[in-house]
Amino acid sequence: MTVCASRQLVPTSELLIAALKGKYAVGAYNVNNMELLQAIVEAGNELKAPLILQVSAGARKYANEAYLIKLVEAALNSSTIPIALHLDHGEDFEICKACIDGGFSSVMIDGSKHSFEDNIALTKQVVDYAHPRGISVEAELGKLAGVEDNISVSEKDAIYTNPAEAKEFIERTGVDSLAVAIGTSHGAYKFKGEAKLDFVRLAEIQQAVGLDYPLVLHGSSSVPAYLVKICNDFGAEIPGAKGVPEEMFSQATKLGVAKINVDTDLRLAFTGAIRKHFAENPSHFDPRQYLTPARAAVKELVKGKIKVFGTDGKA
Ligand code: G3H
Ligand code: 13P
Ligand code: ZN
Repeated sequence: MTVCASRQLVPTSELLIAALKGKYAVGAYNVNNMELLQAIVEAGNELKAPLILQVSAGARKYANEAYLIKLVEAALNSSTIPIALHLDHGEDFEICKACIDGGFSSVMIDGSKHSFEDNIALTKQVVDYAHPRGISVEAELGKLAGVEDNISVSEKDAIYTNPAEAKEFIERTGVDSLAVAIGTSHGAYKFKGEAKLDFVRLAEIQQAVGLDYPLVLHGSSSVPAYLVKICNDFGAEIPGAKGVPEEMFSQATKLGVAKINVDTDLRLAFTGAIRKHFAENPSHFDPRQYLTPARAAVKELVKGKIKVFGTDGKA
């Protein structure tokens, strides 16, 4: 199964290198259906922003990868901006190989649950398959777990990315970009108390791996209060949700972060708009009636992200 649009996907590494130089980050947005894809691509086109569309194993299963590929082809043919297609959190060699063979721009091999040595071996296996085919690889070192405020230094060291290990990991695997653990986590509940990221550690990682090496920040949804409120006002139960404050991203991009992953915020925008639509229009049952505002909400959200990450006008 190959992406064969007349306009081609761009290599992810090209986008990341340009972002590093320009001290901005390219947003990587998770795609699960047509409306999400259209919203993201319309936002990118309007703001002339390069985009990374990313697909998880769950998305491949939900939508059927063949459908997603055709949607991405349609997006390429109806837009003028650089678009990359990335596998998000590939957990083994086989899924990475399938996406490399399928024409993706890049893959992530997520060996973060394995030991350092096993993560290196798995990542290297994927890099050795990807590089001769012109495909770049992202790996992850450290654990993207929620960290309690009162955690000890040694406990934190066991979870967060170690700068010296990051350097060794990159040297031994040849991996093109590295997702780091500095306090973000996936989902809508990232912090119990105040939102904190370990920027001192990020600076140390940047120093260890070099100024020209692209780092990746997963778990970067901001969980905006207005979106949580819309969801909760219209029947959701998402109490105490908290994300990464938007002002933290400019600091992250100055410290080598060139790719920022967002999924949860897309889900909140999409779901909030649907909940609101149903509450206000109980007689509606045509999916186009409620998917139209859902798509519009995601588009507005992504336009905001593009500005916060500094990607507008960079296409
Ligand atoms: O980091 C995970 C992304 O949010 C994708 O989530 O595996 O539920 O598609 P998913
Ligand atoms: P969020 O859950 O913060 O949106 O993170 C998404 C992500 O990291 C996808 O890989
Ligand atoms: Zn992630």
